[in-house]
Amino acid sequence: MNLKKLVGIESANYIKDGMIVGLGTGSTAYYMVEELGRRVKEEGLSITGVTTSKATEVQALALDIPLKSIDEVDYVDLTIDGADEISEDYQGTKGGGAALLFEKIVGTYSKEIIWIVDESKMVKHLGAFPLPIEVIPYGSAQLFKLFNENKLNPTLRLTDDGNPLLTDSKNYIIDLHLEKIENPIELAAWLDTQVGVVEHGLFLNMVNRVIIGTQHEGVKTVD
Ligand code: A5P
Repeated sequence: MNLKKLVGIESANYIKDGMIVGLGTGSTAYYMVEELGRRVKEEGLSITGVTTSKATEVQALALDIPLKSIDEVDYVDLTIDGADEISEDYQGTKGGGAALLFEKIVGTYSKEIIWIVDESKMVKHLGAFPLPIEVIPYGSAQLFKLFNENKLNPTLRLTDDGNPLLTDSKNYIIDLHLEKIENPIELAAWLDTQVGVVEHGLFLNMVNRVIIGTQHEGVKTVD
């Protein structure tokens, strides 16, 4: 069973006529966007999408989903997005697909957020999945040293050809290999104050509903 497809399609049921919808990024959100495109075409659903990456924008445009930028709307009714990890207290990490900056901006201005994940993303503690930090290229080697000094095990994310990966905003991603994040709130507060850090992948106290695809029990929804 394709659990990502299952939750992607299920989550699209929460989208109602007239909504402004934040469209997440990644291999799970992909299926939600496909289903939304189908509903727009076949059911005549009238919505406005606000995309969280170039990749989702390309997908949504191909499906004829009407789009606006976050700066053209008053607010977003509902954002549906994937996540890399969700802890027992429903804190999350995101940015495995390098789209964390726009995802956090769109999420911040959303009245409601749904995360869609397969069961492998549900963890006891955050941190086994590397935590992405989006940084300005200028000064990034200094930040890298600072992360090293603080024993945060940084690696610069590279493309297949060995060059630094550039985000949609032409920034770099430094991944922190932490294994276990003891205090996500403290770490987020520290990262928020480091010069050159544009955004980090800790999404704390943001989500309203989690839709989990499980192999044995089907779709589980937590409100
Ligand atoms: C994109 O940068 C991410 O935040 C994704 O939402 C997250 O990595 C989940 O992606 P998948 O659904 O592809 O696992």
